[in-house]
Amino acid sequence: MSMAYLNGDYLPLDECKVSVLDRGFIFGDAIYELIPVYNGEPFYLDAHLKRLFRSLEQTRINNPNTESGWKHIIARLIDTSGLEKLSVYLQVTRGVAKRDHAFPANTTPTVFGMTNPWPATNPNMYSKGLTAVTAQDMRWDRCDIKVTSLLANVMNKQQAVEHNADEAFLVRNGCVLEGSATNVFIVKDNKVMTAPKNNLILPGITRDVVVDILNENNIPLLEQAPTEAQLADADEVWITSSTKECAPVTIVDGKPVGEGQPGQLWAEVYGLYQQRK
Ligand code: PDD
Repeated sequence: MSMAYLNGDYLPLDECKVSVLDRGFIFGDAIYELIPVYNGEPFYLDAHLKRLFRSLEQTRINNPNTESGWKHIIARLIDTSGLEKLSVYLQVTRGVAKRDHAFPANTTPTVFGMTNPWPATNPNMYSKGLTAVTAQDMRWDRCDIKVTSLLANVMNKQQAVEHNADEAFLVRNGCVLEGSATNVFIVKDNKVMTAPKNNLILPGITRDVVVDILNENNIPLLEQAPTEAQLADADEVWITSSTKECAPVTIVDGKPVGEGQPGQLWAEVYGLYQQRK
């Protein structure tokens, strides 16, 4: 039977209970990680754990487990899920304390984990491509930390949904930084562009895998955030994330990208990505 993990116990998800004074609930004072799993094997696990550790370190939440402790929890969650293709979600909050903004003294972090079946994807994702709208980036300036306080991302994603689009591309100072839950790549004349890894984007693990693929195959890449004009003029647009992998976007703001079909370079990179699984 599929089990969740809460503070050392494995139990059914609906039996997991946390205090209303948990700082994750009260302040969104928490970080998370999401790891894709294929054939029961976590994909790029070490990279995900490295990012998890960095999120804890940057938010100064005590890391409640060793690396092998985390690996054990992840393996057990995968085991009990009975699934082959799934995602593992992990969350650590600063813990339970009387409500006060400053860090509480001596609080034990709350640790939660669950598995989810691979999400149902838009059936047109690979044949026709996805759609996106541009939206003003409303987030703070530490987007590089994977925090659970995602209200701005949630509101940006809702803008996409209300325009019948799959994703919102977040624009700050005229530059396209990333999606509400994805990284964004554009292609012009067989050259690829994506925003650099800095405080304005989440350093996606899938982004790193795609960057590796591009470098290994001598496909030119410029790590610079495309302008809105460059996005509008792109031959191809892709988004990457642990669950979307590398997916083509063929309509942005209601207008076709290039020919309005998934591009040739995307197909090549997608094929190479599949080989890594
Ligand atoms: N989101 N950018 C943002 C803002 C994200 O939330 C995500 C992932 C990514 C892609 O990161 P990765 O390739 O490591 O999955 C980029 C996850 C999947 C989520 O919030 O559920």
